Amino acid sequence: MLKKENILLVDDDIQILELLHRHLSGMHYHTYSAVSVKEALYILKDTEIDLLITDINMPEINGIQLIKYTAEHFPDMPKLVVTGFPSIDDAMSVIKSGATEYLTKPFTKAELEDAVEKALKSVSPKKKSSKSGQQHPTAYGEMIGASEAFEDVVEIIERVKDNHATVLIQGESGTGKELVARAIHYSGTFSRAPFIAVNCGAIPENLLEAELFGYTKGAFTGANETRNGFFQAANNGTIFLDEIGNASLAVQGKLLRVLQEKEVMKVGSQKPEKLNVRIIAATNSNLEEMIEGKHFREDLYYRLTVVSIKVPPLRERISDIPLLVNKFLQKYGVEYRDRLVSITPEALEVLQRYSWPGNIRELENIIQRAIIMCDGQVSVKHLPEQVKFKIDFPEESLKPLKQVEKEYIQKVLASTGNNKSKAASILGIDRKTLREKLK
Ligand SMILES: Nc1ncnc2c1ncn2[C@@H]1O[C@H](COP(=O)(O)OP(=O)(O)OP(=O)(O)O)[C@@H](O)[C@H]1O
Ligand SMILES: [Mg+2]
Repeated sequence: MLKKENILLVDDDIQILELLHRHLSGMHYHTYSAVSVKEALYILKDTEIDLLITDINMPEINGIQLIKYTAEHFPDMPKLVVTGFPSIDDAMSVIKSGATEYLTKPFTKAELEDAVEKALKSVSPKKKSSKSGQQHPTAYGEMIGASEAFEDVVEIIERVKDNHATVLIQGESGTGKELVARAIHYSGTFSRAPFIAVNCGAIPENLLEAELFGYTKGAFTGANETRNGFFQAANNGTIFLDEIGNASLAVQGKLLRVLQEKEVMKVGSQKPEKLNVRIIAATNSNLEEMIEGKHFREDLYYRLTVVSIKVPPLRERISDIPLLVNKFLQKYGVEYRDRLVSITPEALEVLQRYSWPGNIRELENIIQRAIIMCDGQVSVKHLPEQVKFKIDFPEESLKPLKQVEKEYIQKVLASTGNNKSKAASILGIDRKTLREKLK
């Protein structure tokens, strides 16, 4: 369960940013990450932050200036400074700037935890009860679930829905990434503005840039008029960049610019257009691995993961299965059969034992198919072979070939009254081989 505090992390060193994020998520805090003061200010504009953790030495605007600015504008927000070997001057100016706590690099997880707790304690405990704590909705837009993993996802949606923070949604295929993106948009403040979904994997590489940013008349052959792209269409709302792992390095470079400058340039134009668009990106590829292989830009990755949402695979939240099954039974029962369709407890149990490589989409397909096959009640026989496999062969009864062979030979021998030549002929081997096997 997530804690209620939102923590903003600011550091131009992405290694440190990542480390802070990892430690703090481990302590169940929700974090926003910014690689510069400029981006931190952008987040502060529309996000309620309970603690600021910032580095001091950063290019352009430094941490001291950020502390001073926030001391003025957010006097109640505690500020924790994390810095490498500070000089006396630095230390003095940090204290004078209004920082609450001070932590030097390198630090341990325990030191960080300690400093964070102290900093948070330093504020007056006013709106402490604002977040509900235990009760969580089990339905959120189109989504339904009851597992802790699902509720964690819903909590993050709640936190980001009303601000412009860039969100990266990661998860296996069929886990509900697009549904999460839609939930963020449609439950938040900008829900009346457009939600534009772009599948970066489906648009040919040479067209993607023009599709995203628009183009001017004559920019390339066939560009007969000036046209807006998806970004302009999504202005004031949300653009959902699905399968971001498929964007070419060239497009990644352009996206980085958009994220840094909050402006786009049409293909064929030098004139930047200011935009106010929330970016939500999603992928089922392992971007960390792609970064290592130089297929994905590390700087873009860190700008996309201001907030990161990991949608857990279905096998890690089997307690959601009964709810999901019921939802799909209702939906498709009415749609295909014009009636309510039920499921036997055995069938439900079988579904909860399966590993669901295709996640919720696979579950949905299997229920659709079962509804068509059954007469008002789904039972085990309406489920496909791969799902049933586990009941025919309970895991304990699966054994190595050698052992099966041994047991079978013993059985044949017993039934022939230990007559070796008879047993050998039944088994289709000669007596010598049988003798060797018996050893
Ligand atoms: N929590 C949920 N409750 C109900 N239905 C869900 C939930 N999560 C996902 N689904 C359903 O599962 C299907 C897959 O969801 P979605 O398309 O969002 O997955 P995805 O992660 O984007 O998959 P892919 O990586 O293949 O694009 C959809 O039909 C969606 O409605
Ligand atoms: Mg998808």
